[in-house]
This record gives sequence, C-alpha cells and structure tokens, in this order.
Amino acid sequence: MTPIGIIGGSGLYEIEGFEQTEERHIDTPFGPPSDALVGGTLAGRQVWFLPRHGRGHRLLPTEISHRANIWALRSLDVRFLICVTAVGSLKEEYHPRDIVLPDQYFDRTSRREHHTFFGNGIVGHVAFAEPVSEGLRRILYQAAQEEEARVHFGGTYVNMDGPAFSTRAESETNRKLGFDVIGMTNLPEAKLAREAEIALATLAMITDYDCWKTDEAPVTADAVIAHLHANVSMAKRIITRAIPQIPEHPEWPEHRSLDSAIMTPNNLWPAE
Ligand code: ADE
Repeated sequence: MTPIGIIGGSGLYEIEGFEQTEERHIDTPFGPPSDALVGGTLAGRQVWFLPRHGRGHRLLPTEISHRANIWALRSLDVRFLICVTAVGSLKEEYHPRDIVLPDQYFDRTSRREHHTFFGNGIVGHVAFAEPVSEGLRRILYQAAQEEEARVHFGGTYVNMDGPAFSTRAESETNRKLGFDVIGMTNLPEAKLAREAEIALATLAMITDYDCWKTDEAPVTADAVIAHLHANVSMAKRIITRAIPQIPEHPEWPEHRSLDSAIMTPNNLWPAE
C-alpha cells in the first residue's frame, strides 16, 4: 500500500490513533528536509509526517527547502500528500477558523529556481493548469463536511514570499484580483509534488483577515498561531477520517504527470 505524506505544523503528529514507529533523518540532493520525518500508522495506513518549518518553528518561509521536503517524501514512496497550512482570508465570507480547499494558485514568489527539480541537463515542463489533485480534494471535502467543519470547496491561494505580511495596498490589490486566501508556503509544495508525480491537496486553515479589513486588527504572528492551534484538532479529525478513503495505489492522472512533460529522458524517479 502506498504511504501517505502529511506536511504541516509540528503538533500535527500528536494525533489520536497515530502509532509512531520511526523517525528518519534523510539527506537529499537539495540538502536536508525541514526536519526528521516521523513515520507510523494511522487509520490502517503508513503515514509520514513532516513539520514544514521544523520542530520549534525554526525556518522562515524562504528558508524552507521545499525541494528537499518533497524529495524526502518521494524517496519514502509517498504518492498522496495532504498539506495543512495557515492562510489569511481575502474574502469577507471566509472567516478565521474556516477551512478552504484551494483549487488554484497565483505565484507572487521571487525564488522560483528553487521550485523545480528540473535543470542541470534535465529539461521538463509539467502541465499545471489544475494544480491540485481533484480526487484528494474531494476526499478531504467529504471528510471535512462529516466533521461539520466550516469548509469551502475551491479558491485561489496567492503565494507571497514574506516574511513580512502584506501592506494594505497589496492586500486590497489581491482582493481586487479575486484571490481568496494568502499564504507563504504552499505553491512551491504543489509545483514540486506535481513534478514528483505525487497527488497533493491542501487544508488551508484561515487564521486572519490579512490587513484589508479595517474594522479588524491587522494580522499579527500571534493571532495566526492562536487560531492555528485552535484549528489543529479539526485538521487532525479531518485527516483521520480522510485516510481510509485514499486509494491504496497511485492510479490517478497526477501520478503520471511526467508522461507528457519531459523533454529530455526522464531519470528523475525510479521506474515503478
Ligand atoms: N499566513 C497566515 N496568515 C497570513 C497572511 N495574512 N498573509 C500571509 N501568510 C499568512
């Protein structure tokens, strides 16, 4: 059975029913991942957890080696990946502590050379018009509904560099452009997962109204952390409910994304 990866906050793997069996320190061609990967079984499946910012939240968004993180997960045969991440809301009707399941991204990052496994002699362009696994997103949506979460199916996640939050002018512009939520980390994960033929979907947990909503205090790191902690137990319940619904084997189109992508011979991943 194919293992499932979960990228999220450090508290996530203290999850009821998770039987931890091992910790793996993995090295990759891109250096070490954010932390050791924590492995075990949850709801009958092999699961690998990785805290995106490292234990104790040590890494800024631009300091995270997303390539090392995704490479390490793929080296453990992960082909389904659930990301849990804090976001700001750009819509009045998306309240703090709601969950959005994004289906689109908009890239406002500046270090895109770190957001691909290609280069150094391997030229490839993966299709990315539909950047999120539809199958996994539907499974998460159903699980979130069954847990009676306030959940929104679809939305555009705009990815900024940070670490400073947006100015009000930036926030208002993002709203005018129709984006739904803003964060600092999830787009590179989605790009690299697609190149790694991993099906990815994200639970975007709203922690604030960014700074456009002038009748609310502008976003602060403390507010983000307080709401995120409150949301973590819901994320755990959704994940535990979703896992048994995930197929046992990689059989979706996302699992074959390189079939139509590589322009030089594909030697990125071992043959199945
Ligand atoms: N993560 C959580 N809230 C955020 C915000 N308002 N902007 C960017 N990243 C965030």
